[in-house]
Amino acid sequence: SSYQLWGGRFCEQPHEALQDLNISLPYDARLYADDLDGSKAYAEALMRAGHLNAAECDKLVKNLELIRYDWVERLIKFEASDEDVHTVNERLLVQLTGDLGQRLHTGRSRNDQVVTDMKLWLRKAIRETLGRLRQLIEAIVRQAEAHLGILMPGYTHLQRAQPVQFSHWLLSHAFALREDCQRLTELRDRSNVLPLGSGALAGNPLGIDRVWLAERLGFAGVTGNSMHAVGDRDFVVDFIYCCSMVSLHLSRLAEDLIIYSTKEFDFIKIADSFSSGSSLMPQKRNPDGLELIRGISGLITSNLTGIMMTIKGTPSTYNKDLQFDKQYCFQAYDKLTQSLNIAVGVVETMQVQRHQMESALSSDMLATDWAYYLVRKGVPFRQAHHHIGCVVALAEQRGVDITEVPLGELQQICSDFGADIASVADYGHNVQQYDAIGGTSTASIVEQLRLLKNLIKEL
Ligand code: ARG
Repeated sequence: SSYQLWGGRFCEQPHEALQDLNISLPYDARLYADDLDGSKAYAEALMRAGHLNAAECDKLVKNLELIRYDWVERLIKFEASDEDVHTVNERLLVQLTGDLGQRLHTGRSRNDQVVTDMKLWLRKAIRETLGRLRQLIEAIVRQAEAHLGILMPGYTHLQRAQPVQFSHWLLSHAFALREDCQRLTELRDRSNVLPLGSGALAGNPLGIDRVWLAERLGFAGVTGNSMHAVGDRDFVVDFIYCCSMVSLHLSRLAEDLIIYSTKEFDFIKIADSFSSGSSLMPQKRNPDGLELIRGISGLITSNLTGIMMTIKGTPSTYNKDLQFDKQYCFQAYDKLTQSLNIAVGVVETMQVQRHQMESALSSDMLATDWAYYLVRKGVPFRQAHHHIGCVVALAEQRGVDITEVPLGELQQICSDFGADIASVADYGHNVQQYDAIGGTSTASIVEQLRLLKNLIKEL
């Protein structure tokens, strides 16, 4: 049986080519539960406004639940005429309840319906994403805590810079993810206003209590302008932006891990279960999981540009262009979910190679601490920096470590050098000096762990 939500004024059926592009069911079917939730609440609002009696409302609600059961059990058969998830749900309701089902849409438009569905869906998507972010932060925190005290070369420009603790480096990624959590939480709270009751664009003239509806559906308030509400997809853009940012952070983490797992670095080992082999070279063990994470961030970010380009040319209120919001949104969410799951697994199972990391340290990385040594003797930092630069050049010329330059020669460069410069050669001792908040000393790292554990509790 063909069921169409419109058509009274039409003499012809839609052309196949139009029907083909117009049908959104293949991708909006996953909104079925949100659509039913919205409809149940709307039936109750209609009753409260006197458009249905209690028995009628009850019947609608019960039958909407029967439809939900059929979705869950995969018993729904789509018709060629089913344009979108709203059409299917209404067709099924009318099949079950006849004329009564035809009353549900009173005062409602698919325009306020679909944006409400999206907000209901997004609320769950944000919750689940936060859950996965929490898992990843937890995995990072666990590894960082278990390996406290291990040193490694820290890099800027991918050039050896200063010694840091392995945990400090690893936690730097958790701090980026922490901001992602804050971004998502802020979006969740800001977008939590109900559009239903906005009608097609002009609002609702039938006494629907929107504030009651909002409370019934778990929204903190209602949208303030019906024309804005039906054409607003900013919250979808924001969500895809959040997904893009997480994916960029995962991509950067992946990149670090890929570099650190090469034989040349050998700082960490990626588990077999997150690596793949080569069809030609028997010895290969490739970090495919991490490369996919790095690659997928391009796709997720393309969803962000996609939706922004879709929105930019639309005039006020609802236009069919907006139907594409779902493809961008769902793809960004699905791909991010896959990425996050891999990232959690890689971090949980990676092996930390203490010996390799600590043997990669070299005394030139102490040059900054040597400059601070002179600063503590009263030398202005700019001069200290220059003196140590000369020591480094001298050592390089001779092909020796800076620690091997005899004291007499150091003193020729700067008379403030003393025998105690030898004590600046201990990497472990040196990192402990960086005890300002956020630094690489053990005390600062313990504080970072505490901040992240608090965040985990809140999520
Ligand atoms: N499938 C449509 C969408 O996702 C539902 C809204 C259609 N509204 C309309 N007036 N054609 O955007």
